[in-house]
Amino acid sequence: MIGTSTGKGKFAYMENTNGDGTNELLEAQAHIWNHTFNYITSMSLKCAVQLGIPDIISTHDKPLTLSELTKALSIPEVKAAHIFRLMRILVHTGFFGVQKIHEDQEGYVLTPSSKLLLKTRETNLSSFLLMMIDPVFVTPFHFMSAWFQGKESTPFVAAFGMEVWDYFGQHLDTNKFFHAAMASDTEFVMSVVVKDCKSMFEGFRSLVDVGGGTGTMAKAMSKAFPHLRCTNFDRPHVISNMQGSKNLDIVEGDMFESVPSADIILLKWIMHDWSDEECVKILKRCREAIPSKDKQGKVVIIDIVMDDKKGKQESIETQLCFDMLMMSLVTGKERTVIEWEKLFLESGFRSYKITHCLGLRSIIEVFP
Ligand SMILES: C[S@@+](CC[C@H](N)C(=O)[O-])C[C@H]1O[C@@H](n2cnc3c(N)ncnc32)[C@H](O)[C@@H]1O
Repeated sequence: MIGTSTGKGKFAYMENTNGDGTNELLEAQAHIWNHTFNYITSMSLKCAVQLGIPDIISTHDKPLTLSELTKALSIPEVKAAHIFRLMRILVHTGFFGVQKIHEDQEGYVLTPSSKLLLKTRETNLSSFLLMMIDPVFVTPFHFMSAWFQGKESTPFVAAFGMEVWDYFGQHLDTNKFFHAAMASDTEFVMSVVVKDCKSMFEGFRSLVDVGGGTGTMAKAMSKAFPHLRCTNFDRPHVISNMQGSKNLDIVEGDMFESVPSADIILLKWIMHDWSDEECVKILKRCREAIPSKDKQGKVVIIDIVMDDKKGKQESIETQLCFDMLMMSLVTGKERTVIEWEKLFLESGFRSYKITHCLGLRSIIEVFP
């Protein structure tokens, strides 16, 4: 048996003798423990991805037994038994499933979540997962309380002595790793945009992806919308090795100074990196870059719109975690509709439309 099960043997006997007051105390302790150990699930998942377990399971056409898995992993015999324990927590948390092969044999299968971690899949979130729990992103959380009492702009600065974007400029391996993670997310987002939000980009002639990283979005856009002239715009150290193509330009610069002109300015996962004052500056540069007459131009923002009422409990918690991540790394934050609206009005835009089509994130079209 490789699944989790409760013993129902002859000698199994459990009785709860706790009174009401004690139950409350034990629940409170369980609550604290649960959150104390949340990181262990993340780390277990990281380990499984690094070992390539989702990929190994996917190459089998039937459920993979524990002994087949340990053999495929080529790990020392003495460690084989521990794979069962790693898999047990990941089955419990829904990353793998267990299915019967025969009466007394079970094997591991993928779930929709682990299918998204397959390295062979075009839209795969494994590098995003690995980056988000890399020591570079986790260390600033150890500095958060010191940061509250100190003078540094962010816990990241308290930990590394420089802003995150400067750190990437000086640590090119981490920069590459970060942009691979962003690109994996962008491929995922694009697969949904092209399927469900195509009309937002039809009828326009040009698009600039501001802070577009290594250009995954601009490249995918130029492929999906061949009539659209696309530009990937970012800092020099991010795009120095990139080559343009027929309807794709690569332009380096600073979005606080100026942004290349286009019908659509795209800002994916940019605004949440910056404070309100900084966002207003960026949005003003974007407004200058689009045609304002007859609403021919627009800014398209892909980011979280915080929703503390309607969303599922788990989604709200993830949005709150993103907000804390922003607080730890940069000067930005996740915003509610009211907070977004304030930014748009302050930067001289007149209207906006929010489409909830990307799960935890939304697309906001902002019009002059
Ligand atoms: C969170 S990443 C998002 C990347 C990409 N839009 C995506 O979602 O995959 C933020 C991007 O903003 C870029 N960036 C930071 N400061 C910038 C600036 N002053 N001008 C232009 N781009 C900048 C970074 O280099 C990085 O690529």
